[in-house]
Amino acid sequence: MTIPILVDVDTGIDDSLALLYAIASPEADLLGASCVAGNVTLDAVASNTAAVLDLVGRSDVEVAAGCAYPIARPLVITPETHGPTGTGHAELTAPPDRLSERSGIDLLVDTARSRPGEVTLIALGPLTNIARALDREPRLLTLLERLVIMGGCFGVAGNTAPRTEWNMHVDPEAAKLVFAAAGRDSRKLPLIMPLDLTEEARLLPHHVSRMAGVAGTAMESLEPLVSRVHPLMSFITDALRFYMEFHQRYDGFYGAFIHDPFAVAAALDPSLVRAVETTVDVETAGELTMGETVADLRNSWGRKPNAAVALAGSAHVFLEQFVARIGRLARAQA
Ligand code: RIB
Ligand code: CA
Repeated sequence: MTIPILVDVDTGIDDSLALLYAIASPEADLLGASCVAGNVTLDAVASNTAAVLDLVGRSDVEVAAGCAYPIARPLVITPETHGPTGTGHAELTAPPDRLSERSGIDLLVDTARSRPGEVTLIALGPLTNIARALDREPRLLTLLERLVIMGGCFGVAGNTAPRTEWNMHVDPEAAKLVFAAAGRDSRKLPLIMPLDLTEEARLLPHHVSRMAGVAGTAMESLEPLVSRVHPLMSFITDALRFYMEFHQRYDGFYGAFIHDPFAVAAALDPSLVRAVETTVDVETAGELTMGETVADLRNSWGRKPNAAVALAGSAHVFLEQFVARIGRLARAQA
């Protein structure tokens, strides 16, 4: 029994790895990818997303362009984190006619309507597309089996501002609308994968070395991270080398928080995380806290819960799955 999923991505390096993890997971049936501006511009996101899927022979997976700008503020992108094109030192291109004729919003709404109660939507970027899809279809969260969101931070520092995580920072107004809708109607409380947990998923060079071993290839070097022989491992190491250089500068270790693949893994296997049901709202007026995700853990607001926030989980189990599954995918591509 496979799990039908949609991913909403701002591809980006860890989004690329999330797409590969979805393809490498036998229990996942990836129905399509909607693209949103965030790490890089929408055009680059859409091209990267299509090219990563084509790299592993999945040109059958629909890629649809969504929103190019946040709903109420200018777009900010982060080339320093994901590189000028969004895939670090790797450069991928997709054929111009690869993108779907329908919009990312239509992909989300049409799919949810056509398979009520079946599809899990995994949001791995700013929530602009999800908010616009809710405009189009207010029943969206009820039509979905579940919404999973990578984003926010609660008990740890933000990665974009002291109290703000990147996906929420780019489009706080969209995030506020999505959490408000979750308080009104959803089949299951959206699963939130915040930095509190995703920053426990630290991919290190030795993980990639073991991945290369599973793939039947070798690493030219671990630091810097280089594997040239195998096309998929070459992409992965070129993308990750940039990401690890970033983490070395900003977080003090040569490795990478792989936020987005962990969110996909949790969507496929919720036993990987331990979530608390609570009410979450998003700051959209704070001078210092714009985009902060606030969890009312003591129910002082008296509102019904609208989120299951994964504050703990088995990051080490996920990392082993990640190494094994991507390694097997690479071996199959050889
Ligand atoms: O804060 C991490 C999130 O922001 C990830 O989704 C990463 O891809 C960036 O979009
Ligand atoms: Ca992302």
